[in-house]
Amino acid sequence: MSKKPLILGIETSCDETAASIITENDEGNPRILSSIVSSQEEVHKEFGGVVPELAARSHIEKIDWIVQKAIDKSGKEIEEIDAVASTAGPGLVVCLSVGLSFGKAFSSSINKPFIAVNHLEGHALSPKLNSNLNYPYLLLLISGGHSQFLNVQGLGKYKRLGTTIDDALGEAFDKTAKLLGVEFPGGPQIEVFAKKGDPNKYNLPKPIFNKGGCNLSFAGLKTAILRISKKIKTEQEKFDLAASFQKTIEEILYKKTKIAFSEFQNQNITKEKIFVVAGGVAANKNIRSMLTNLCKEENYKSIFPPMELCGDNAAMIAMVGLEKFKLRQFDNLDYPAKPRWQLDEEAAFLKGAGVKL
Ligand code: KG4
Ligand code: ZN
Repeated sequence: MSKKPLILGIETSCDETAASIITENDEGNPRILSSIVSSQEEVHKEFGGVVPELAARSHIEKIDWIVQKAIDKSGKEIEEIDAVASTAGPGLVVCLSVGLSFGKAFSSSINKPFIAVNHLEGHALSPKLNSNLNYPYLLLLISGGHSQFLNVQGLGKYKRLGTTIDDALGEAFDKTAKLLGVEFPGGPQIEVFAKKGDPNKYNLPKPIFNKGGCNLSFAGLKTAILRISKKIKTEQEKFDLAASFQKTIEEILYKKTKIAFSEFQNQNITKEKIFVVAGGVAANKNIRSMLTNLCKEENYKSIFPPMELCGDNAAMIAMVGLEKFKLRQFDNLDYPAKPRWQLDEEAAFLKGAGVKL
């Protein structure tokens, strides 16, 4: 039997230091042997957001033992690793540089190929780690830095159908949480608050709801939350605002996903219609169940990564590394950090640029 590829993945694009070893089983399906994620929440919470220099320093302090831990936990030897895949962008340049340099040095020291990975491609392929997923599929990527609908046609082949023209969805969750007095990153806490609140208490705006195709916008919603949050006096009102915010997001995503479905179908003729939701916000249970129901109505198969693979991790980076390794798509050791690296080559790289409303 031929040796199965063993890939080391490294992720340091923002505030998670992560390393993972993955391989394939006999059926050719990916298998995670180890996935270590060390969050920096404690480092940044007093600042209300990620401080790039502190994040980079923390990556530098932790990267070698996180990688060592991933190798130890995998039960494999360093010499058995076939390639090293590091996130090269998008993200904070000082943070990206840590994992990128470490990955290059590591691959060179073991004399194995180096693979530069787009972080968004990691999220896009993360469901492949636990389910059989065939191209093409429609992807909704909702994280702290990105909110996009993409037509995924194959490895490296992405067509953007819609994007946010201002804030990312995770950012909207975090900012709302901050206005409700929750420390950064408060997104997950909104879900907890919302359970105790009345979703119909506040009528919030839905920017570009009736125009702009499947593009998204959350800035106006944030402004409304800011205005209302100033008048809030009781805990119950706080819960009601969280519930109203979450309900509004669900309504926006319901409508925009329906539009994305029809655009996706215009571009692809497939036997099976597949909808994948990835990124940190995909961990939100209300959003998951609303989108699952929509898929049932519209005859789509819905796929979500398991909770632990929704947020940033290195298994998803190793997953892209594995696919590229099999195609012998290796990179040189002078590969640069690309803080604004887009998945779709045609997309403008400025936030919101090129979006017609
Ligand atoms: O994908 P991710 O870990 O990092 C980026 O690449 O940005 O996403 C992090 C984002 C944060 O904004 C966080 O608040 C949000 O995902 N998030 C959630 C939930 N869990 C994480 N937002 C809403 N509900 C959740 N349960
Ligand atoms: Zn991410």
